[in-house]
Amino acid sequence: MIALGSDHGGYALKEEIKRHLAERGVPFTDFGTDSEESCDYPVYADRVCRAVTAGEAEKGILCCGTGIGMSMAANKHRGIRCACCGDCFSAEMTRRHNDANVLALGGRVTGPGLALKLVDIFLDTPFEGGRHARRVGMVMALEDGD
Ligand code: RB5
Repeated sequence: MIALGSDHGGYALKEEIKRHLAERGVPFTDFGTDSEESCDYPVYADRVCRAVTAGEAEKGILCCGTGIGMSMAANKHRGIRCACCGDCFSAEMTRRHNDANVLALGGRVTGPGLALKLVDIFLDTPFEGGRHARRVGMVMALEDGD
């Protein structure tokens, strides 16, 4: 299952993504928001990230105006590796090298055609492991820092 969330700035894109995932036969859960009424993106980042870290969702996709606020909020969660992407190369490499488990997209930045391509890349590209697993482990160890 893929966990989806947006604020008002990413709502329209989230609806496009839902249609796309349904066409692909990919199961998803929509954690809101449910309209273009103004709301607070950290609420939806939190819902989606909790679903991912609990193992209920395999991955998460978050949409806000830029994707940036969502990615900042998501990366505050232990176990979350969220990448804000607006190009295909970054979407591919954040799976292959960073093992990203949440994708953040900007509904006011990235058009729906490209955004759906980024979703496909994010869902279909495996993590390479090897030396990248060590580095990802180092990144995750920073959660225990200070
Ligand atoms: C909402 O106006 C906007 O700030 C939000 O969607 C997002 O872009 C924040 O990073």
